[in-house]
Amino acid sequence: MARTFDLILKGGTLVNHDGEGLRDVGVTGGRIDEIGDLSRASAGEVIDCRGLHILPGVIDSQVHFREPGPVHKEDLETGSRAAVLGGVTAVFEMPNTNPLTVSAETLADKVKRGRHRMHCDFAFWAGGTHENAKDIPELERLPGAAGIKVFMGSSTGSLLVEDDPGVAAILAQTRRRAAFHSEDEYRLEERKHLRVKGDPRSHHVWRDVTTALQCTQRLVRIARAQRAKIHVLHISTAEEMVFLKDHKDVASVEVTPHHLTLDASAYDVIGAKLQMNPPVRELHHQAGIWRGVEQGIADILGSDHAPHTLEEKAKPYPESPSGMPGVQTLTPLMLDHVHAGRLTLARFVDMTSAGPARLFGIANKGRIAAGYDADFTIVDLKRVETIRDSWIASRCGWTPYDGKRVTGWPVGTFIRGARVMWDGELVSPARGEAVRFHDAL
Ligand code: DOR
Repeated sequence: MARTFDLILKGGTLVNHDGEGLRDVGVTGGRIDEIGDLSRASAGEVIDCRGLHILPGVIDSQVHFREPGPVHKEDLETGSRAAVLGGVTAVFEMPNTNPLTVSAETLADKVKRGRHRMHCDFAFWAGGTHENAKDIPELERLPGAAGIKVFMGSSTGSLLVEDDPGVAAILAQTRRRAAFHSEDEYRLEERKHLRVKGDPRSHHVWRDVTTALQCTQRLVRIARAQRAKIHVLHISTAEEMVFLKDHKDVASVEVTPHHLTLDASAYDVIGAKLQMNPPVRELHHQAGIWRGVEQGIADILGSDHAPHTLEEKAKPYPESPSGMPGVQTLTPLMLDHVHAGRLTLARFVDMTSAGPARLFGIANKGRIAAGYDADFTIVDLKRVETIRDSWIASRCGWTPYDGKRVTGWPVGTFIRGARVMWDGELVSPARGEAVRFHDAL
């Protein structure tokens, strides 16, 4: 008897943990039901994917969606709309909102706000602080919690644990992998005078290589002493990549599309739009980060989507806030790098689906396998497009890549079997749900 599914993706090239090949995918009840030749099967909906590649859904484990708080820049609805238009199926959102996400109540509030209002699936990082370290065992296992995030250097918002005892107290409590913004606050304070008013080119002079490297070295030392797993976010220096090579047993590594695509020369073109923490630096750092991708030192990609309005960005440096949008451009930019031969499509898939699933213990997502959630990012590797501000769905309404031509484009986003985006249009109502994790089932 021919089988019947809710949905069949037909004729596409499936890219998966077991390679790449022409395979159909049958979906039932939001889950992947069967992979193979389904030419004799029928379905409620059949999508012709000939000429397209079907990837496991892209997971972006670092975004700032600003809600509750400064929702004039973004909220959970607009941020997740940008995500799905860019082919992203799940996001982990950061705790530097207002109020800060540092308690069971503030976390539950975000989960409630996100459910069926966000277009993609979601989890929320809980901020680790001096005050809440003792609550971490409960906090990191709450429904919708991605884990604990710590800012060791101050950035947007007031979250900060700058001292070794403070970080140690947090890592003494964590069982899950905690994520770190690694810039040395003491050095940042000492060097504030190096900021040149009106000149964002001084941003990476102030927040220099030593600021990042020294902090990452301190962090790894503390993690070893506490026998804790850590995740070092947005690596911005060649030196940290070399250092982290020797610490892969305790530390996982995130790299961002902006550190892989842009370099400090862009300050002359886009000014404070390039201003980000940790900073975008000279070209040899970009090369060092690519080397980390090639060598497998970098585990995953995250966008660090951090929108600010154009008015805010137009303030004279250093009043201009740090951060740029990125969730919608992650997939097209990285596919363009695939096209240019800088990484393989398989490596991109590992860094955006299997990688996050492995590091954070995501249940039922991160690979195209029977029984897993039917989350797919469908891409056209040949499509040439120009990224434009007008395409950006983030409330901030701009991208540092305006005018950039790329080869490779996300054309479809499926989440738990529902077609959410197709050919640039949002085609389903928001049905986002909390991501589930093995350590908190
Ligand atoms: O540049 C940044 N902006 N880096 C961060 O760590 C925070 C982010 C934001 O929230 O604006």
